[in-house]
Amino acid sequence: MDYRRSYIRDLLASEPPMKASAYGWVKTRRDSKGVSFVQLNDGSCFADLQVVIQEGAIPESELRRVTTGACVRFDGMLVQSPASGQAVELQATTLEVYGDADPASYPMQKKGASFEFLREIAHLRVRGNTFGAVFRVRNELSWATHKFFKDRGFMYVHTPIISASDAEGAGAMFQVTTLDLENVPRVDGKVDYSQDFFGRQAFLTVSGQLNVEAFAQAFTNVYTFGPTFRAENSNTPRHLAEFWMIEPEQAFCDITGNMNLAEDFLKYLVSHVLDHCRADLEFFNQRIEPTVLETLHHVAESPFERITYTDAIKLLEASGEPFEFPVFWGCDLQSEHERYLTEKKIGRPVIVTDYPKEIKAFYMKLNDDERTVRAMDVLAPRIGEIIGGSQREERYDVLVSRMKELSLPEEPYSWYLDLRKYGAAPHSGFGLGLERMMMYVTGMKNIRDVIPFYRVPGSAEF
Ligand code: 4AD
Ligand code: MG
Repeated sequence: MDYRRSYIRDLLASEPPMKASAYGWVKTRRDSKGVSFVQLNDGSCFADLQVVIQEGAIPESELRRVTTGACVRFDGMLVQSPASGQAVELQATTLEVYGDADPASYPMQKKGASFEFLREIAHLRVRGNTFGAVFRVRNELSWATHKFFKDRGFMYVHTPIISASDAEGAGAMFQVTTLDLENVPRVDGKVDYSQDFFGRQAFLTVSGQLNVEAFAQAFTNVYTFGPTFRAENSNTPRHLAEFWMIEPEQAFCDITGNMNLAEDFLKYLVSHVLDHCRADLEFFNQRIEPTVLETLHHVAESPFERITYTDAIKLLEASGEPFEFPVFWGCDLQSEHERYLTEKKIGRPVIVTDYPKEIKAFYMKLNDDERTVRAMDVLAPRIGEIIGGSQREERYDVLVSRMKELSLPEEPYSWYLDLRKYGAAPHSGFGLGLERMMMYVTGMKNIRDVIPFYRVPGSAEF
């Protein structure tokens, strides 16, 4: 195989005429009098390459194998296209079929297949227009994340996936064990975890935050970006059991610095995809969500609103909206409340700060009122919560008493408490859910459609 083969993206940008080979998967073949047209795609860009085969150029017995889904190579001349719709086309003279795709059974042929159906063939849906666009955007968001932090001097930290401490203190963790579940060892009626693989109970991490905090207390500005796991039984279009989170942490940084970083980061990601994913975003705007482009331009240009939880509750109480979940000071904001604030009341992303301590995690810095904590959630229209973060409690005694209030065991967090014993800097950080950001940028309505292979309650196919 020619190691200098070009992506279709590069062929489409080439100066015709020139000899070229095009590799890819067949989207469609259309035959008319004396000529066949093949739309070929290799995932490198939204547009297909049009391949034109004059009658007799390729033996009929070979051409018959060029069906939707087949993997092929065409060689020929790249020429200016006489037809509208594309600048260049390939006049093919030879064909090699690498892999046939039987039209009687290939499941990706139906036009307009539902997203529900496509979820059942997640290994093949990636060859279609929508999922091609989705995963190119996801790739750009990931790359832009590293660029953003690298350019600002943040160190990238690989935090562990297996963890003994519950970073959110919420108890929604998957347990990791090699014990024989049919025959669990016990002492005094309780499971004997000293015989388990790690000699103790272990879990899949819900967040890299606690570990990344340790690195912020040595390298100042750090971030982690990896998979996180939540064993909550949330069967919603916004929740996954396995999702990717980007978590920066800064020493010598208060909640204002944290909000500024979150806002800069979201704007940077949006500008990056506007610059690098034009064709894909135009597709989303046309076919998925007609407000996507307008929203993204708006986000890139206007400052986010910043309000306290207490003021947010006042706005909700004054709204006169018939909310399903009642609004009162102390209630957790539900998605309907978040959407009212961002969509109806304010019309752009909103950062809500200083939530009641009862509805937030143990590690958030307690305010002087002793009722609220220095939390900050970024809420976005259509999505609701897209970022959760806070200034961290760096006072040893306050943190210990918060943990006692919440009945958290000290032992698994002893190392985390050490960070407060020895040279604790004031520090802050947040977590952006990559899939929530994907939904925001693409307008896709279900989080299962913006991750390659989704894991939710009752389903871990592929
Ligand atoms: O608000 P969360 O739970 O915050 C944390 O995990 C902190 N430790 C982050 C930090 O301060 N370093 O989650 C952060 C974000 C949410 O705002 C949301 O975007 C996403 O992670 N998220 C989920 N995404 C998909 N499925 C789920 N089940 C999610 N839970 C949270
Ligand atoms: Mg949260």
